[in-house]
Amino acid sequence: MSYNDKIKGFSIKENPIIMGIESSCDETAVSIVRNGREILADEIISSATEHAKFGGVVPEIASRMHTEAILAATKNALTSAEMTLDDIDAFAVTEGAGLMGALLVGVSFAKALAFSTEKPLVPVSHIRGHIAAAYLTDKTLKPPFITLLASGGHTAILAVDDEYTLRPLGSTLDDAVGEAFDKVARVLKLPYPGGPNIERLAREGQNVIKLPQMLKGYSGGKYDLSYSGLKTAVINYVHGEEQKGNAVNKADVAASFQTAAIGALITRTVEAVKETEYTTVAVSGGVGANGYLRDKLSQAASENGIKLVLPEKRYCTDNGAMIAAEGYLQYKKGNFADLSLNAKAVLPLK
Ligand code: KG4
Ligand code: ZN
Repeated sequence: MSYNDKIKGFSIKENPIIMGIESSCDETAVSIVRNGREILADEIISSATEHAKFGGVVPEIASRMHTEAILAATKNALTSAEMTLDDIDAFAVTEGAGLMGALLVGVSFAKALAFSTEKPLVPVSHIRGHIAAAYLTDKTLKPPFITLLASGGHTAILAVDDEYTLRPLGSTLDDAVGEAFDKVARVLKLPYPGGPNIERLAREGQNVIKLPQMLKGYSGGKYDLSYSGLKTAVINYVHGEEQKGNAVNKADVAASFQTAAIGALITRTVEAVKETEYTTVAVSGGVGANGYLRDKLSQAASENGIKLVLPEKRYCTDNGAMIAAEGYLQYKKGNFADLSLNAKAVLPLK
């Protein structure tokens, strides 16, 4: 019987051990998670320093580095969990969205593992993975809750009504917040990755540069956001000062931008919680690793009686454990792929 026929007969186990494989951007990540909650191993091999030489992720280099790293990441994960492939019940892999060539490395590798071990192959949406990281942080977390999704490609306030149902309450109408961090970092000539470098520099500066208050007079939906105006204002400010021959205080630019960008996220999130029936907020996505956001959101949560689930920084940015956590939810539903599974550069959030 072929693998594609066998998947119909795969049983769904209690407390499954799932390997999560992530390769959508510049981290090759492999994790082993029990029951969608307990991390048994978590390996990340990053190619960020290679990309830093070029000022941003170079897709070709990312693919090549994944190819080199994926076997080592997998072996390391198995060794640290003291397991062999026999112990793994299913292989969850990011199918999209992301860089096509990078995704294909993880997808092809996961297919080979599933085929050779005759175990289920579970396709996972990268963004759903980010959201599922909250289940690893708070082992008792159950929907309903709100997730503040703040990554390089997405910025949204979503209601998680059950494990599978996401309902957007608000989202950015233009740029994602992480994208704005990266573009501002570029104009300040900070090295890749932009977000963490803005955060570092902002600690040395002050919020003294007047930037547009993006929420004032704003005509979008109630909990929507917009980052292109803020980003453009920062770029115009820097270029304007340079043209006038003035020295730009980069630390002040970083601090002023970060205050505005994160402030809006927090205002919108608190509004959404106060005006709805939700009482818990989980943070997801790379910008969730930002220390200023973490401090301010923790403060806002305690002032407003909101229960906050704040994944460790490592589980805000890309990792394999979040893919295993979402893989677990998909596994429970028997959402298994056959060997025709392909990578998807674009995968709308459903
Ligand atoms: O979620 P993520 O790892 O990748 C996806 O987009 O899926 O997010 C990456 C984004 C980048 O834009 C990066 O600059 C931003 O998260 N980021 C940060 C920080 N760490 C990562 N932004 C602000 N402060 C940080 N510490
Ligand atoms: Zn990501």
